Amino acid sequence: MALITGASRGIGRGIALELAKIGYDLVLNFASNAAAARQTTADCLAQAKEAGKKIRAEICPADVAAAAGRQSLIGCTRKAFGRLDLLVNNAGVAPAARADILDATEESFDRLLSINVKGPYFLTQLAAKWMIEQVCSRRENEADSLAQNVPPPHGGGYRPKIITISSVSAYAASTNRGQSRALDAHAIVRRAAGGTRHQRL
Ligand SMILES: NC(=O)c1ccc[n+]([C@@H]2O[C@H](COP(=O)([O-])OP(=O)(O)OC[C@H]3O[C@@H](n4cnc5c(N)ncnc54)[C@H](OP(=O)(O)O)[C@@H]3O)[C@@H](O)[C@H]2O)c1
Repeated sequence: MALITGASRGIGRGIALELAKIGYDLVLNFASNAAAARQTTADCLAQAKEAGKKIRAEICPADVAAAAGRQSLIGCTRKAFGRLDLLVNNAGVAPAARADILDATEESFDRLLSINVKGPYFLTQLAAKWMIEQVCSRRENEADSLAQNVPPPHGGGYRPKIITISSVSAYAASTNRGQSRALDAHAIVRRAAGGTRHQRL
């Protein structure tokens, strides 16, 4: 199942439709445009049906810039599906007015940074902690099954994923920083268990 932020419109909507087509259950987040979110949800269900998949889709309004909003998104996903296999950090905004630095306001700066940077950063933190729990608990189940000589219940290699939609200019400015790498819960578990300190995430 996938949680997509900013899924009511634009790129997030497109991602939701593609994931629906390949059978992902969805939590679709938006900020204020409930009508667009309902339309995207209906279109995702139709898209899945057309592709021969049966999916569930839940709408969850929340402001990713606010700690309470991020908690509510994770809570909504736990309640509806009890698992998280893919987080797509897509919600983002452009400045209300593209002002030169000589005219820029702190209000605009704070709004942009809190939605585009702080939101995905700390949502990733919440999601990654949950994903690590999921990987650890599956490994325990698999180890138990192997000890009893039965095949593991979930199959090996479960890898939840986090994807963050950014802009080309942000990526070009910082190609190798920790924030822009793909996050792999397996690598974190290995590192926590004493793996190579410099293992790439
Ligand atoms: N379009 C581009 O050319 C372009 C280029 C580079 C990067 N990007 C990045 O791609 C992502 C999507 O862009 P887009 O053009 O598809 O945007 P968009 O069409 O304006 O849609 C933005 C989405 O984010 C949601 N959103 C806005 N603020 C939010 C908040 N505080 N909490 C939760 N959801 C929020 C909106 O919800 P509502 O519908 O409720 O408002 C909407 O679903 C953004 O991160 C953007 O920075 C876009």
